[in-house]
Amino acid sequence: MIVVTAPTGGIGSRVVRRLLDDGARVRVVARDPARLTPDVVARAEVVAGSHADPAVVEAACDGADAVFWLVPADPRAASPDEAYGGFARAAIAAFAAGRAGRVVGISGLGRGTAVAGRAGYITATLAMDDLIAATGVPYRALTPPSFMDNTLRQVVPITTQGVLSGPYPPDVPLPLVATGDIAAVAARLLQDDTWRGYEEAPVLGPEDLSYDAQAAIIADVLGRPVAYRQVSPEDFIAARMSGGHSAAMARGLLDMALAKADGLDAGVVRTPATTGPTTFRQWCLEVLKPAASA
Ligand SMILES: NC(=O)c1ccc[n+]([C@@H]2O[C@H](COP(=O)([O-])OP(=O)(O)OC[C@H]3O[C@@H](n4cnc5c(N)ncnc54)[C@H](OP(=O)(O)O)[C@@H]3O)[C@@H](O)[C@H]2O)c1
Repeated sequence: MIVVTAPTGGIGSRVVRRLLDDGARVRVVARDPARLTPDVVARAEVVAGSHADPAVVEAACDGADAVFWLVPADPRAASPDEAYGGFARAAIAAFAAGRAGRVVGISGLGRGTAVAGRAGYITATLAMDDLIAATGVPYRALTPPSFMDNTLRQVVPITTQGVLSGPYPPDVPLPLVATGDIAAVAARLLQDDTWRGYEEAPVLGPEDLSYDAQAAIIADVLGRPVAYRQVSPEDFIAARMSGGHSAAMARGLLDMALAKADGLDAGVVRTPATTGPTTFRQWCLEVLKPAASA
């Protein structure tokens, strides 16, 4: 039995689809089962509730061979550590009690770099990984860079104003990856019972692109002008907080962005084993373009 948390999310929904297509027995943990597709409800067991809740984790892990673990960082949390390690408290207790089989989790790129200790969300994610690893559960922490899919959050300003924006410098090439490529690695590891111990599994996309270069590709694919605009740290924090982030979580996002501009993503060498196949242009054609014309 493979347990999947966050099964309605960008990565989780793709993990579930792959596992079901492969014929695996799947149990999903959903705080709102009404958001699951009819196909998933028909083919998977459903545990209703949040995977932060000890009783839900207890029910979900019953007889589990493997768990797909993803923390949905609460933007209103008191701190990034509370959003990641705090959310994971009940699961870590279950992992320590040997109730999960193996765990494949979503982490972030950056361990071992000079900026890993001041990278906001990523620093907190790596601390959570340490807690999970310390339980002794066999653990693969998938470490992606920024998701191509983040661009979907800007589909309105992209299509109405021709603007892609963010706190990143315009000209620093950074890796980025499609969530579909992360899900493919997760589904494979969840069904492979030969691995043991704790390791990171980096999942990069095939190329590094600056935000200027991303805007140029978006413009080309959508057939309209799109330019990147860097926002100041102050404006970035103010915009996040007016959107509902706590001050600490807004700061955590900014710190992550500053660390990425300063080498957070540069600690891993791109090899066939660490590289997903989807280019940003392909992702724009397959995902962004349909969303932009919807
Ligand atoms: N975005 C990036 O560039 C990036 C880079 C590296 C790592 N990451 C990591 O990737 C993860 C996000 O993955 P994603 O984009 O696939 O997530 P996502 O699409 O935002 O999906 C979040 C999922 O979590 C569920 N959820 C939200 N709040 C919950 C709660 N309180 N209790 C239980 N379930 C809850 C949602 O369910 P509902 O349907 O009920 O809302 C949904 O299934 C985070 O851990 C992040 O740190 C992100």
